[in-house]
Amino acid sequence: MDFELDDSLSSLQQTARRFSDEQIAPVAAQYDASGKFPREVLRMAWELGLSHTFIPEELGGLGLSAVGACVVVEELSRGCSGITTSILSNDLGLMPILVGGSRDQQREWLAPCTQDFKVLAFCLSEPGAGSDVAGLQLHAEKAGNGYVLNGTKAWITNGGEADLFTVFATLDRSTRHSLRDRHKGICAFVMSRETPGLTPGKKEDKMGQRASDTRVLHFDDVRIPASQRLGAEGEGFKIAMTTLDRTRPLIGALATGIARRALEESLAYAAERKAFGQAIGEFQAVQFMLADMAKDIEASRLLTFQSAWMLDRGMRASKQSSMAKCFSTDAAMKATTDAVQIFGGNGYTKEYPVEKLMRDAKLMQIYEGTNQIQRVVIARELMKG
Ligand code: CAA
Repeated sequence: MDFELDDSLSSLQQTARRFSDEQIAPVAAQYDASGKFPREVLRMAWELGLSHTFIPEELGGLGLSAVGACVVVEELSRGCSGITTSILSNDLGLMPILVGGSRDQQREWLAPCTQDFKVLAFCLSEPGAGSDVAGLQLHAEKAGNGYVLNGTKAWITNGGEADLFTVFATLDRSTRHSLRDRHKGICAFVMSRETPGLTPGKKEDKMGQRASDTRVLHFDDVRIPASQRLGAEGEGFKIAMTTLDRTRPLIGALATGIARRALEESLAYAAERKAFGQAIGEFQAVQFMLADMAKDIEASRLLTFQSAWMLDRGMRASKQSSMAKCFSTDAAMKATTDAVQIFGGNGYTKEYPVEKLMRDAKLMQIYEGTNQIQRVVIARELMKG
């Protein structure tokens, strides 16, 4: 077992850290306040090879390992998790093409993303189907050699900004199927933003991660040729689940970055702020919070790297990916809440960075599968024996 990064990952980590310190952290508060989409920051990350990292080398991409991607994401998210969510959603958006697409489809849709900067969006959730993916209602009706899509997606990250969309729709919206079979009509598609009938709707005014664009998407008679279907008819559900198995470690890394920032800010404040004639870091009550943050950060990173390591070896990692996502995001929520506590009244104001960390951390427990769903996945895997 080796806990050291090799030279190339170590140098990538330095690049990501520098980019985060110089290009993300200084603009984080500004994008948080405005809620504007940080397109130029994303473009710079792409130019440096810190985004779209999973595109294989044979298609002109970096072909970064899952461990490598986690190393990058943790560094970026220390600067701002909202901006980092916008960056990593590109890899989430392209993953169904890697998982379910043919070589020709990968060449057609992914190779151009290595030549020009393109934003991607993964379109799974719906107003009535967030946790319950098999219950999704976006309808794909067969028409000639293709499909016509009608319905609505919701909470789509990068939804108003994406050039390419991977979209999940069902051939059969009827409820006659048993709970076991509902997912069998789901298909995955890829489409560009120019596709007639595809229109971004309302942008969500979110509590945190305000630099990420979260949208409703409307599909009104969207015509898609069969050549834009990823995998076979009915394979969409499994493509979505395999995608999430592969991207949940990135969420673990993102959460670890938030918790690390909370610890760094808390350590600095605890050394500087005085009460009862001494620095507050001298009090055991504060020290215990700092110690808990540090141990949870280490545990989050280990779980995250373990799940990524398994994926890099082609192993199924549903349980470990869900453990990494669930543990790290709960830990980030606790670390940021304790950071606000350490900062006291100052922590509750926008003058200091920790209230943003706490708002940002909350989303981590909800997106990419709520932490309740992660526990469902873990328990089901345990019971398989
Ligand atoms: N890999 C491969 N196949 C899988 C699988 C996996 N990880 N998980 C399930 N399957 C297969 C099952 O084996 C089963 O196959 P058969 O029909 O051949 O037996 C089939 O898929 C159905 O599985 P389940 O019966 O387990 O399905 P379910 O309806 O009970 O739901 C669930 C499972 C885990 C609850 C799933 O719906 C889920 O993960 N929900 C959470 C959704 C989610 O994470 N959304 C995130 C959106 S993206 C986002 O938030 C990102 C962002 O904005 C940044």
